[in-house]
Amino acid sequence: SFKPRIFSGIQPSGGLTLGNYLGALRRFAGFQGTGPETIYCVVDLHAITVWQDPAELSRRTREIAAAYMASGVDPEQSILFNQSQVAAHAELAWLFNCVARLGWMNRMTQFKDKAGKNSENSSLGLYAYPSLMAADILAYRATAVPVGDDQKQHVELTRDIAAKFNHDYGVEFFPQPTPLIEGTATRVMSLRDGSKKMSKSDPSDASRINLTDDADTITAKIRKARTDAEPLPGSAEGLKDRPEAKNLLNIYSALTGESIDEILGKFEGQGFGTFKPALAEIAVDVLAPITSKMSQFMADPAEIDRILGKGATRAAEIAQPVVEEAKGIMGM
Ligand code: ADP
Ligand code: NA
Repeated sequence: SFKPRIFSGIQPSGGLTLGNYLGALRRFAGFQGTGPETIYCVVDLHAITVWQDPAELSRRTREIAAAYMASGVDPEQSILFNQSQVAAHAELAWLFNCVARLGWMNRMTQFKDKAGKNSENSSLGLYAYPSLMAADILAYRATAVPVGDDQKQHVELTRDIAAKFNHDYGVEFFPQPTPLIEGTATRVMSLRDGSKKMSKSDPSDASRINLTDDADTITAKIRKARTDAEPLPGSAEGLKDRPEAKNLLNIYSALTGESIDEILGKFEGQGFGTFKPALAEIAVDVLAPITSKMSQFMADPAEIDRILGKGATRAAEIAQPVVEEAKGIMGM
């Protein structure tokens, strides 16, 4: 049996969105002090699978660290660090490149979404991304991974890699980590297109709420969010085939903790002209303190660097021996 450990990561590939916050970030602090060790990472090696402006990458790396802390991750209680500062991630990823099968990678929907029609021109790193993610998790022999729904397939692949390594070498060395995907905001959708997830890498800024947006911007984006013209139904059943409406209700539910039926009980028969301002007010109330704490942390970049440096030392103390042992198992 494996020591319970929680691992999760966020890419510094753009400003954080309400989707990142509700699906992942805001859940992280809650695992602190509950038993398992908590390890949270800024995954810059994942971000560079598509070209990043170097100065922006450094700034965003600090911004993600600030967001973790602003949402309650305490660098004393958790290990908070930046991926590229711990060499074990890249080293274990190579070992896993030799364990994972091409056929497994070919099934990954995120690669297909991100590479689009021009996959021949994608980086090799974008293709191998899930193998690096498996290394992130398994370098700590983590047992649980809180993520949004879009990462479920990658955590399942991590389980397959762990199982194949154990099987190929006749060991019980790596655990099979469980994806922790919970709540009504496991997949927050774009405000412009109910069939696409809200993403920091979407070229349309109107498609998402950024954690750095001010109150007026958040209110305007919600007011302009695409919806149908029907009034709100009396229960969740009536949201079937209304993806945009459903998305806004899911966001409201995740922000308040009320069930969809409870919310619809209050808004039944009303139009979005009434619902959207109510949602905007709640979103602003929840996000404003996070935004303000983020900018307080960002005012002292040297302190963020110090915290990340200390976190990297603690992370390497766990991860490097795991990689050494994995190499030993393989005969190296
Ligand atoms: P992005 O997909 O925005 O580039 P990341 O890949 O860095 O962000 O994901 C960081 C975390 O946020 C992951 O746990 C991911 O599952 C979660 N996440 C990303 N987008 C959403 C979304 N639209 N709804 C819910 N969770 C999300
Ligand atoms: Na993602």
